[in-house]
Order: sequence, then C-alpha cells, then structure tokens
Amino acid sequence: MPATRIVVNIPDEKAYDVRVGSGIIENLGSRLREIEAVANSPQLLVISDDQVAPLYLDQVKSSLKKARYQVSDIVIPAGESSKSLELAGEIWEAMAGLGIGRDCGVVALGGGVVGDLAGFVGSTFMRGLPVVQVPTTLLAMVDSSVGGKTGVNLEAGKNLVGTFHQPVYVCADVDTLQTLTDREWRCGLAEIAKASVIDSDDFFFWMLDEQTALSERKVEAVNEAITRSVIFKAGVVAADKTESHGVRECLNYGHTLGHAIEVLAGYGTFSHGQAVAEGMRFAARLAHRLLGTSSELVQTQDQLLDGLGLNPVVWSASPEAMLNAMKKDKKVRGARVRFVLPRDIGVWETQEVGDELLLEALGEWQRTKQILASNA
Ligand SMILES: NC(=O)c1ccc[n+]([C@@H]2O[C@H](COP(=O)([O-])OP(=O)(O)OC[C@H]3O[C@@H](n4cnc5c(N)ncnc54)[C@H](O)[C@@H]3O)[C@@H](O)[C@H]2O)c1
Repeated sequence: MPATRIVVNIPDEKAYDVRVGSGIIENLGSRLREIEAVANSPQLLVISDDQVAPLYLDQVKSSLKKARYQVSDIVIPAGESSKSLELAGEIWEAMAGLGIGRDCGVVALGGGVVGDLAGFVGSTFMRGLPVVQVPTTLLAMVDSSVGGKTGVNLEAGKNLVGTFHQPVYVCADVDTLQTLTDREWRCGLAEIAKASVIDSDDFFFWMLDEQTALSERKVEAVNEAITRSVIFKAGVVAADKTESHGVRECLNYGHTLGHAIEVLAGYGTFSHGQAVAEGMRFAARLAHRLLGTSSELVQTQDQLLDGLGLNPVVWSASPEAMLNAMKKDKKVRGARVRFVLPRDIGVWETQEVGDELLLEALGEWQRTKQILASNA
C-alpha cells in the first residue's frame, strides 16, 4: 500500500508533510535530504526512549546514515517523568558536547513524551533547530506529532513550560505500531474517537463501521484512521496555531473530566485514553442536558467507545472532589469550569458550567458508577 501524504499548511509557517505508511522509516534519510531545513545538515541528533530505542533506533540511524548524515543519539528513560526541565538541561548540555550547531537537526523517535521533550529542546537549543517527528505510538501519530506544541512538566502541573515549534517533517511508519501494548493502542483510539465526534458525520460513522477492524489493528483501517485524524488536527491547528482563537479548544473534548479522573484516581490507575473516553461520555450527557443534544448521539458515542474497548470507568469520587480537581486544571479560566460540548456530530461549542449544575451532574455520574461497581 503506498504511503499517504498530508500537507500541513499553517498560516505564516513553512508547510510540512506528514507521511503515513508501512516501512517508510527505511527512506527517512533520503526523504530528509529533500527537505530544505535539513537537506544540508551535517549532523542529526536522534532522541528516543529506552523502550523504543531497542526496537527502532538502529533502523532509523541506518536510514539516516545511508543518506550520508552524521548521526548521534540520546536515549532517555521512558515515561512521563522524563518531560522535565532537569532532563531538558542535560540534553542541552549533551547537544553542546556533541557539537550540534545551528545547521543540525533533531529527530524525535518515540511517543508523545519523546516528541514533546525533543521538540522542546530542539526548539530552544541555539534558539531553535529543525525538528523531525517520527511518532511510534498511535496517540503521537494522530495527535502530538502534528501541530507544533512542545513542552515539559513542572511540579505545579503538566506541560506548563513549552513552545510552539512546527516540525519540518512527520514520518508515521505504521509498522512501528505492531509492538504497542493494548493499553497504549486504546489511548490512541480514544483520541481518534474524540476527533471523529468533533470533526464530522462522515468520520464518526466511518469509525462506527470500522470499530472492530481498528480494535484488531487491521492495517487498512488503521492507515485510514490516522490519515483522517491528521487531516482533522492539521485543520484545527491551521485555524488556531497558538491556541488563541478558541478553535484549538475542541481538542480538549473529554479532557475536562478525564484529567480530574487521572489526578484523583492517581496517574496510571486508568490510562489517559480510558479517562478521556469517560470524559466524552460525561460531556455528551452534559450537552444533552444543556444544549438539547440528542440522546441518540449519547448512545451512539457510547456504542463507539464500547466497540473500541474503551469501557466505562468503574471508579468514582465525590462531586466536590471532582469539581476541585477540575478547577485546579490550568485550562480553567476564572471560577467556572469550561467544557467542550457536542451539539451534534461535527458541531461543538464551549460552555462554562456553574458549580451548582456541575455538582448535580457529577452526583448523577457518581451514582451511575456506584451502581456499576455494585454489579461488578
Ligand atoms: N504536543 C501535543 O500536542 C500533545 C498532544 C497530546 C498529548 N501530548 C503528550 O503526549 C504524551 C503522551 O504520549 P504517548 O501516549 O505517546 O506516551 P509515551 O510517549 O509515554 O509512550 C507510551 C509508552 O509506549 C512506549 N512506546 C512508544 N512507542 C512504542 C512502540 N512502537 N512499541 C512499543 N512501545 C512503545 C513508550 O516507551 C512508553 O513507555 C503526554 O506527555 C502528553 O502530554 C502532547
């Protein structure tokens, strides 16, 4: 199957390609020779993590070397805790030691953690080097590798320090997804489901038709889902490059309740995907209540999430604790919590929800969870 090429065209930025296909890492080096920003780079630095590097680093390095690049690499520990200023500082020092100059480039090989961290160090070292993204998780392919958001976490919260720095090329080799765990696979599926609800009938009903194929990682369906998601994400980013027009807020669908679950249940108790899926279920019900969104949408979305293996979370916390957690989220402006709500498939809006109403809705959510737990 030939690779798909999607051009990401963001106002005032150089357009870049996202390629989605099987075995395309093999040609990464020759492809980069065709990209102006890195065509003549003497050296490329590959940053990866210690779970991805044993699987794909040699392949990437040999492709780059074949294209006569000098290649160095830095391997970081896998996991969210690597997105830190301390590690960024160590990488900057190492880059200086390796003689990385303004004419060099950074290649991020891994999931969203590597992509965000490598994007951050690449965008800041010597005031910004070209960054190539080689995403290896489904989530990174459909979401984090496109759009130029980079960042690290602080004690005070996730992604509090970062930059907007668009990559010069994104190479999504779907063969790398074969080694992904089920849990990580479903994290990506949750973001694709989110995109489909926000995007259009066409995408959403296609997802419903293909839910089994996607759960089973059938190549054709997977390629198509990634392509559709990248086109969606590129469109959102093009309309709101720096998250200042409100358009990019739609990417937070499901994340308001989702983040509160992750914080209160403890990070890692539920996967990010499961938490987001639960957040989508909650937001759709809130939309039904506040906007008159059809119950058919609520049920069909449930059906899609069930079909993708993103089952309802059997866990709850008190409405007050959930509300507090939502208010601590950096995306809460002012005193009221904001939700992305679907009026219909492909039609969304944001709404600030008052405490009283939200507590009531969270109370209902908690009761449903308690019933689920007692039946389990
Ligand atoms: N920049 C953005 O726009 C954006 C958007 C969404 C999420 N994010 C960020 O992305 C991060 C989450 O990304 P993620 O879900 O990819 O997590 P991750 O990068 O931690 O990867 C998940 C796990 O899978 C392993 N892994 C990666 N690829 C693999 C492969 N092909 N085979 C086997 N194992 C593999 C990793 O080593 C890691 O242990 C978060 O830090 C989040 O803030 C950023």
